[in-house]
Amino acid sequence: MTDIIQAAERVAQLRREIERHNHLYYVEAKPELSDVEFDRLLGQLMALERQFPDLVTPDSPSQRVGGTITKEFESVLHREPMLSLSNTYSLAEVEEFYNRVKKLLALEGVDEQKMVAELKFDGVAISLLYRDGLLVRGATRGDGVQGDDITVNIRTISSVPLRIDGTGELEVRGEVFMRKEDFEQLNESRPEEERFANPRNATAGSLKLQDSAEVARRNMSFVAYYLKGISDESMPHFSRLKLLETLGFSTGEHYQSCGDLKEIGDFIAYWSEERWKLPYETDGVVLKLDAVTLRDKLGATAKSPRWAIAYKYPAQQAITALNAVIFQVGRLGSITPVAELEPVLLAGSTVSRSTLHNFDEIERLGIMIHDRVVIEKSGEVIPKVISVVVEERPLDVLSIVLPLNCPECAMPLVKLEGEVSYYCPNEEECPAQIRGRLLHFASRNAMDIKSLGKALVDQLVAIKLVKDVGDLYLLQEPQLENLERMGRKSARNLLRALDESRSRSCERLLYALGIRHVGRATARELSQAYPSLDLLLKAREEELATVPDIGSVVARSICDYFARPSVQHLLEKLRDAGLQLSSSEVTPQVNRNFAGLTVIFTGSLDRYTRQQASELVVERGGRVVESISKKSGLVVAGQEAGSKLDKALKFGVRVVSEAEFEGML
Ligand code: IVH
Repeated sequence: MTDIIQAAERVAQLRREIERHNHLYYVEAKPELSDVEFDRLLGQLMALERQFPDLVTPDSPSQRVGGTITKEFESVLHREPMLSLSNTYSLAEVEEFYNRVKKLLALEGVDEQKMVAELKFDGVAISLLYRDGLLVRGATRGDGVQGDDITVNIRTISSVPLRIDGTGELEVRGEVFMRKEDFEQLNESRPEEERFANPRNATAGSLKLQDSAEVARRNMSFVAYYLKGISDESMPHFSRLKLLETLGFSTGEHYQSCGDLKEIGDFIAYWSEERWKLPYETDGVVLKLDAVTLRDKLGATAKSPRWAIAYKYPAQQAITALNAVIFQVGRLGSITPVAELEPVLLAGSTVSRSTLHNFDEIERLGIMIHDRVVIEKSGEVIPKVISVVVEERPLDVLSIVLPLNCPECAMPLVKLEGEVSYYCPNEEECPAQIRGRLLHFASRNAMDIKSLGKALVDQLVAIKLVKDVGDLYLLQEPQLENLERMGRKSARNLLRALDESRSRSCERLLYALGIRHVGRATARELSQAYPSLDLLLKAREEELATVPDIGSVVARSICDYFARPSVQHLLEKLRDAGLQLSSSEVTPQVNRNFAGLTVIFTGSLDRYTRQQASELVVERGGRVVESISKKSGLVVAGQEAGSKLDKALKFGVRVVSEAEFEGML
């Protein structure tokens, strides 16, 4: 008994500590702990919760790592409709809006009119419901009236408090988004053809994922801009934003109370440039009437309220000259045309290059060298060439000619059936592909070899010291010292970094090899299904295609890769160099009693948390889903089982008690 009491105290203390650091990191952006120290605290908490499952609560920070698989999200009704905003690109319309509100308020006998100006975050709107301080529901906007219950995914977002001060029901609305840095990191970890076009698409896609552990890895953020349910119903909007901050939410902090049109205009003008310095994307300014009590008097149209408006900044465009087109060779051999532009300032940075994607895009644009072109940054991080200023076409324009041979190794290019890109087929020898593979291998999400940058890779490949990633581990200090910008100290640093990389997990190594279509998520699935590369090497295509999320195209690509003699030779080199070709955490051998079975839990279990019970099922080959259908295999009903039990009985799905479930394990 004393054990559990002591554990409960420690658990409470760890949770407070972890949530405090979470807040410092994600809301205040003033971290006090390193990632490793933070992970250590979380690790201690998770270990204690595993030992004392009764201590697990839904607001524990351990719940942020996810783990539930949801097949279908349940629909939920919003407490009141989630309206959208009417948009305008014109300052004159902002003025009209302001005057209209003023006139309507005058009719009500109100002559003062404060507006709150906020940034318009470019993400996805959600609604959070807190009951007696506990986060009980997170939902998407859906059609405004009805959305999807995505609570399991929302819990993984560190800037969403799992518990706040307060009683009764409170609703908080705001925007989920991805910081530019997190977006880039996510895209970097995905195969090229699966990359998201912008952070908003990445956020929308991630919120709908069925595997909440994957959602947790996507690092999304949340800002709040709406609070309802507080006892003081007349509290103005500005004070509500302040209150949200006190409750532990981030509001982005860049809002301002504006007393007149001049202040509104100044706010819009200030942020039109300043917004580029923010770590996330914004696409405008939202103006809201501060006096919440007067909002109802103004009412709403079918879709948007009359007390608010969104001013959207025009897409950022510039016109510049196309000086040349170069052809880049990717690490998988694809040829990408890149526009070399006369440098021009656009949306806070100088642009001198922009991808033209492929030859079809060049034809679509009808673009020629020396043309004047319009480039645009709209939402996307990377600027795009969107059109040619044909009226200004100079006399000396030249056609863009697709090279017949690889610009790096002169091998004739090929076009694969059904693809738009051309490829250099010289996988083994093309220096550009070798360099690309080395850089990918060293990148942060792969083997994370910090001292191996582009300049060094260029040299190592140019003097043929390194031809594949295995050669890196054969490098010696004297070979490195004399390279340009190296010296003894840098050489030693590199060797140390390489040495450290030998202990990276098998999963990382698999991703680092850079197999076509194998991003981080696929590498994770694969290394769970195949604990060593030797086993994976022997797997047949049909067998691979049975691994979750691996389709026939990916399976074929993996088989083709491992069938190459050079790859087999490379794996030998890596093995000799002491890299981890098998996972060290050997999963305990358990039975496959749940193979192919979908399981639904309802009510609370006495001896397991939901998470533990789910893990037990997954380890034994089953899947855990949230909502029930006629096709569900098994319902485990605990104490106070709810509507899912009724549905199970109606659909005739097999229902077992906790004791029977244990027996099945
Ligand atoms: S207020 C009725 N404030 O813009 C008012 N929305 O078109 C509802 N958005 O769905 C929203 N930043 O996704 C509000 N500071 C902000 C916002 C914001 C971004 C998004 C939100 C909403 C859409 C409205």
